[in-house]
Amino acid sequence: MAIHFNHTILSAHDSKASAIFLAEILNLPAPRRWGPFQVVVTENGANLDYMDTDGEITPQHYAFLISEAEFDEIFGRIRDRKLSYWADPGRRQPGEINHHDGGRGVYFEDPNGHLLEIITRPYGSGGWNP
Ligand SMILES: [Fe+2]
Repeated sequence: MAIHFNHTILSAHDSKASAIFLAEILNLPAPRRWGPFQVVVTENGANLDYMDTDGEITPQHYAFLISEAEFDEIFGRIRDRKLSYWADPGRRQPGEINHHDGGRGVYFEDPNGHLLEIITRPYGSGGWNP
């Protein structure tokens, strides 16, 4: 089988600003507009398509697998921007990161409250299984 996750849609109150936020934080190419979407493309070609809504936004969760060096850079930008961050998705460990699977991980929010996560090891790759 050759099934590749290709894109998802993220609701936003300001799709352009939200897409720029994500691209800047992760150091991805600048977003491009396609139809009603502001599109951010990751290294594996999966698009995150921000779309404007005037309605209430139900926060979703998006996780990005990155290298240790990229973690240093991205986490540095999170702290430079004084964003809140947590070691856990329940937000019970503010100002901390986790070391699941022998790597590093942290959670933070985009401007719409979507819960973003960066991890340096895929879940379970080092034996972590909550
Ligand atoms: Fe996650």
